[in-house]
Amino acid sequence: MASCLITGVAGFIGSSLARAALAAGNEVRGIDNFATGKRENIAEICGRMHFREADLLDVDAVRTACAGVDYVFHQAAIPSVPKSVLDPLGSNRANLDATVNLLIAARDAKVKRVVYAASSSAYGDTPTLPKHEAMPPNPISPYAVAKLASEHYMTSFYRCYGLETVSLRYFNIFGPRQDPNSPYSGVLARFITQMLKGEQPTIYGDGTQSRDFTYIDNVVSANLLATTAPSAAVAGQVLNVATGTRVNLNETFRILKKIIGFRGDVKYAPERAGDVKHSLADLARSEEQLGYKPLVSFEEGLQRTVDWYRAQTLPQESALSSADSRH
Ligand code: UD1
Repeated sequence: MASCLITGVAGFIGSSLARAALAAGNEVRGIDNFATGKRENIAEICGRMHFREADLLDVDAVRTACAGVDYVFHQAAIPSVPKSVLDPLGSNRANLDATVNLLIAARDAKVKRVVYAASSSAYGDTPTLPKHEAMPPNPISPYAVAKLASEHYMTSFYRCYGLETVSLRYFNIFGPRQDPNSPYSGVLARFITQMLKGEQPTIYGDGTQSRDFTYIDNVVSANLLATTAPSAAVAGQVLNVATGTRVNLNETFRILKKIIGFRGDVKYAPERAGDVKHSLADLARSEEQLGYKPLVSFEEGLQRTVDWYRAQTLPQESALSSADSRH
């Protein structure tokens, strides 16, 4: 059994990771300031972990949180390209300053390894596909810059202080508990919940932009692997975490239409500033160094996600009667 600290534990990814880390028998400590996280995401596991509501910019809180833990999973962020375009300073504080603060505390507490939620946005609009880790980064949005700078800090803390770090470049993660309600929410959470309500989703641009959408269970497994992989293979490294396939938004809408049984159509609006056109990961390095393989395909992940949101939106009574009708 190991002890771990999860930053952003009330977020979609942090809370999923907390469930998996607890299920694997680890002692879990979590920290969140609820800037984007939700209390309901951790309500059911709060009694089994040590939770503290605090901001990562609070030096004392972060030092206390790191004391005595083996691993840190740094998931806390304001994860939005358009929000960072509107508020670059806020994005920088949450996505970069907080990281440096955490790294200092982790170094001083002699944490064994820090695993970081880096972002595929670091690649930007490079024409080469798939994107592999040796390619020069080309960030577009302030969000992408802050995420990339944090990655560099991870590697720097390994080189300068010997603190083992692993940066996992996440490619468009989706799944249960992703917040669908903000205009900055991930496209799949938005589309699924809108279509389940019979509302018309909006595609920004012409819908030919493509993404390597990655189901949450794949990311959780990559994080757990990042704590056990040999340090010679992963310490100070940057590794892609994705599905290794890409789908454009027009196709995504068509697939969802079928899964959900949605009869309406999509509407189009102007492309968003800072948007990347195409994204697809090369997984060779993460397979070799981390032992990572995607466990859940895009289609299977979509089905599971639709099922989850559908169960959330069913009124309690009809949920009960549909459960009854199965017996
Ligand atoms: C980017 C990163 C991703 C990161 C995320 C954090 C890339 C390739 N990906 O995601 O790794 O986790 O930031 O926020 O840089 N869209 C619509 N309609 C909507 C919402 C979005 O058409 O209602 C479009 C967007 O304009 C974009 C695509 O869907 O083209 C995906 O958007 P979103 O889900 O917000 O993620 P990215 O910005 O691609």
